[in-house]
Amino acid sequence: VGRLDAKVAIVTGAARGQGRSHVERLAAEGAHIVALDICRDFDETDYPSAESSELEATADIARRYGSQVMTGEGDIRDQAWLDEVVSQCVSKFGRLDIVVANAGINGGGRSWDISDEEWEAVVSVNLTGTWRTIKAAVPSMIEARNGGSIIIVNSNAGLAAAPYLSHYASAKHGTTGLMKTLAVELGRHWIRVNSVHPCGVSTPMTQTTKLQEALLDHPEASSYYVNALPVRTIEPVDVSNAVLWLASDEARFVTGVALPVDAGRVAILEL
Ligand SMILES: NC(=O)c1ccc[n+]([C@@H]2O[C@H](COP(=O)([O-])OP(=O)(O)OC[C@H]3O[C@@H](n4cnc5c(N)ncnc54)[C@H](O)[C@@H]3O)[C@@H](O)[C@H]2O)c1
Repeated sequence: VGRLDAKVAIVTGAARGQGRSHVERLAAEGAHIVALDICRDFDETDYPSAESSELEATADIARRYGSQVMTGEGDIRDQAWLDEVVSQCVSKFGRLDIVVANAGINGGGRSWDISDEEWEAVVSVNLTGTWRTIKAAVPSMIEARNGGSIIIVNSNAGLAAAPYLSHYASAKHGTTGLMKTLAVELGRHWIRVNSVHPCGVSTPMTQTTKLQEALLDHPEASSYYVNALPVRTIEPVDVSNAVLWLASDEARFVTGVALPVDAGRVAILEL
């Protein structure tokens, strides 16, 4: 028996990195999957987004566990697309139980050097896109009366300073507030809302040269990105295991929690 048997989960940013890992972990426990990704590069980032073939590869991984899968290519800033995806999900599967709002983008630079375009893109994807994803899903979840679990993939940058990432930190702090507020609003519907806050995770996002260059130019900032446990980065599955637990009934009375999965990085910052 799987921990999520017959549940239906939407995962954004599912084509690669953490999103693919969340899909695999949820599918392995019996969930059916709606895997979404933009599969198109941003002008405002200096690293590529995922490609369509990667989204298909994610879907194949889930199918190998016996899951039924729906995929969709689009931008989480597009409300009409998200609304349509949720409507197709409910017609295909008859329900929607889990939302993993995982898609995000990154950049880098000193707060006063960040361009208007990059600021707007990072805030609109990480904050507004997360809100839009949840806005699309919630009415169907309430109507179905099955409760549910919403998990936002946030970051240490949603809990603490993140030098050279002020747009990202601002957006991620915003989604921490969104998570807490939604947890209160949705409690009466038995829909739980939590976020996970990783330190560096080995995914293509960390290849952003802007941040790497900023850190090289300002070595004192590198000392800020340090964990208590002696590792520099963690693996996507480490985050997925927390996502799975929050999605499952094992966390049935856990809501409104900002859970660091960060090898103790925030603990150091709070010293
Ligand atoms: N990698 C890290 O070090 C790290 C650390 C903490 C938090 N995070 C967060 O984890 C989440 C997953 O990131 P990742 O590390 O897997 O990075 P990633 O770049 O490998 O994956 C992000 C995925 O989201 C997709 N995406 C981006 N913008 C989108 C949009 N507007 N609409 C739909 N899809 C979109 C991309 O195509 C990509 O497949 C993000 O929210 C990120 O901010 C990452």
